[in-house]
Amino acid sequence: MWTVLLTLAVTTGVLGEVVDVRVNNDTESKFGFEVDYELNQFLLDGKPFRYVSGSFHYFRTPRQYWRDRLRKIRAAGLNAVSTYVEWSLHQPSENEWYWTGNADLMEFLNIAQEEDLFVLLRPGPYICAERDFGGLPYWLLSRVPDIRLRSSDPRYTKYVKIYLNELLELIRPYLRGNGGPIIMIQVENEYGSYGCDTQYTSWLRDTIKQKIGSKALLYTTDGSGANLLRCGFVPEVYATVDFGTNTNVTKNFEIMRLYQPRGPLVNSEFYPGWLSHWQEPFQRVQTAAVAKTLDDMLSLGASVNIYMFHGGTNFAYTAGANGNEGTYSPQLTSYDYDAPLTEAGDPTPKYFEIRNIVSKYLPLPNMSVPTASPKGDYGPVVLTPIVRLFEPRGRQLFETVVVEGSKPLTFEELNLPHWLVLYETDLAPSYSDPANLHAMVRDRALVYVDDHLIGTLSRSHNIYDVSIENPYGRKLKLLVENQGRLNYGSGLRDYKGLTEVLLNNARLPGPWKMTGFRLDYVDPLLSGSALSANGTLYDGPVVLRGDFVISGQPMDTYLNTVGWGKGVAFVNGRNLGRYWPLAGPQMTLYVPAPYLRTGQNQLVLVELEYVPTPREIKLQNEPILDYKARYSNSGDNSYNIRVLV
Ligand SMILES: *[C@@H]1O[C@H](CO)[C@@H](O)[C@H](O)[C@H]1NC(C)=O
Ligand SMILES: *[C@@H]1O[C@H](CO)[C@@H](O)[C@H](O)[C@H]1NC(C)=O
Ligand SMILES: *[C@@H]1O[C@H](CO)[C@@H](O)[C@H](O)[C@H]1NC(C)=O
Ligand SMILES: *[C@@H]1O[C@H](CO)[C@@H](O)[C@H](O)[C@H]1NC(C)=O
Repeated sequence: MWTVLLTLAVTTGVLGEVVDVRVNNDTESKFGFEVDYELNQFLLDGKPFRYVSGSFHYFRTPRQYWRDRLRKIRAAGLNAVSTYVEWSLHQPSENEWYWTGNADLMEFLNIAQEEDLFVLLRPGPYICAERDFGGLPYWLLSRVPDIRLRSSDPRYTKYVKIYLNELLELIRPYLRGNGGPIIMIQVENEYGSYGCDTQYTSWLRDTIKQKIGSKALLYTTDGSGANLLRCGFVPEVYATVDFGTNTNVTKNFEIMRLYQPRGPLVNSEFYPGWLSHWQEPFQRVQTAAVAKTLDDMLSLGASVNIYMFHGGTNFAYTAGANGNEGTYSPQLTSYDYDAPLTEAGDPTPKYFEIRNIVSKYLPLPNMSVPTASPKGDYGPVVLTPIVRLFEPRGRQLFETVVVEGSKPLTFEELNLPHWLVLYETDLAPSYSDPANLHAMVRDRALVYVDDHLIGTLSRSHNIYDVSIENPYGRKLKLLVENQGRLNYGSGLRDYKGLTEVLLNNARLPGPWKMTGFRLDYVDPLLSGSALSANGTLYDGPVVLRGDFVISGQPMDTYLNTVGWGKGVAFVNGRNLGRYWPLAGPQMTLYVPAPYLRTGQNQLVLVELEYVPTPREIKLQNEPILDYKARYSNSGDNSYNIRVLV
């Protein structure tokens, strides 16, 4: 662990710019991180250095667990941690900044340094990361509807510059050159897979350099393909590659050499696991393959970042989606990733195997190896339906925005980042019977006629049409769910909501009433008298509440949603994220102990589709992330999976 010899004085100039940061002179000369091209190595504070790093994103793990996870990363022999910085978290709206609580990046950096880890910082602005909109703030799409993202479009770079200036000012004391833990800062993110606007990448480089000088090393990361580095490579920025297991390591590193003949070898994203989508099998990567490829890389002297070492959770609506024109696959709430540390931070056999390999190349710290934390088995909780979303009281409690207009507006036009918008209109008295309703929906809509569910539209399944019987003069409702903005590929400008609605090929004249339900948190005092609701929810979503008691210190637990339909769960007001056991493979939502308390706890479900009998839900001590019944031929249907759209 290093002693920080940092005396920092900041004065603010007339333009509000920080004009002077004085650092203890000894500090300045002693600390630094650079490339020794001659000897193909990094130099840390002037001495040869290589890192084995693990990715862990502070925004996917409750702040109370940051130290625990970082310590476990160090205990595996790793000497660095890599994190993205999520722009959308820190600037939730144009005039709002958030750097406290779970967005307290500075505290994360402090803890990393205290736990003897260097930091590879990946500030984006675009981060992919399987996060909503690749970490970009959704309001960019509200401000500039035809914005050219990740390009030199000044209407985009204007906002990027504001974000980067804010961030880089805050992290300046944490740069290695100032005695802090940050040794490297990434420019953009796998840009060669997206575009070729070199004016943009050079501008980003200069914007970052202007703020940090040479106090940390700038780097890029691209897939190990010559075609990818062609546009991903940025002059004067250290180019690195990424690749996974079961591959010829030498060959991959040769790609790096094509663009950068000398310097240390680096794999910036080595995949010990993989991401998973709803309606797909849970992805796994074999431990033996991870150990072999890691050993191959380290034996060549390479520095490696393991992506992910601890994945965590996409709480609330933070999960993104993959896809392009015609395909759409939203990601799970869990970001367990089959990583060496599980979603709950428990070590797996993969963890110990990686530790063995790393110990051949780096000294293991004198620390005890971690064990799994105890988990709570809090049994079944009985839930009572207390509010219907569509009834006046439900609207009053949860609606965030209500707008009337002649055409449907997108979520972004409504300034609503997430989850649900209800679109309502009346059908004229003259339509043929049955009529075909065609609605371009992003991403999923429950369609109600006269308050009765008649079908589901789904972008994932390319279902945009539904037939309506006796349409004349009836009330039409579409409850549209944003399942997560695309985080990768050319379709990044992923507006949500309804873009086109036709009945028998004619545009519906409106007027439309649009109601946005934000539902980021729920009031822990939420109450109401019991309603009757079970089976398929033909008359719309219900909010259910159940209480449970924990005696003693709360432990992590898992909410088993098997038997329920689709929705979002809250514990003590905190949003645990989406559940969708009908789709799988994730059946349980991770409930971290810091969200719980000794004594009475409150569980709330906003269930969109189906309420089982009995209305119970279990808090159990084991996760189920890889339920396979829908994907295998085993015929095991014990989880009561219904017809899926
Ligand atoms: C530190 O450097 C500044 C200017 O570079 C100089 O004025 C000052 O005397 C130095 N302080 C010490 C303690 O060496
Ligand atoms: C791996 O790639 C290198 C360089 O392209 C090549 O020389 C070597 O034969 C390959 N090894 C295997 C096992 O294919
Ligand atoms: C390792 O740590 C333990 C407990 O802190 C201490 O007793 C022991 O001397 C240390 N061993 C070495 C080699 O530093
Ligand atoms: C709804 O609840 C009633 C009474 O508890 C029960 O008889 C019925 O089977 C339930 N329906 C469904 C679809 O579960």
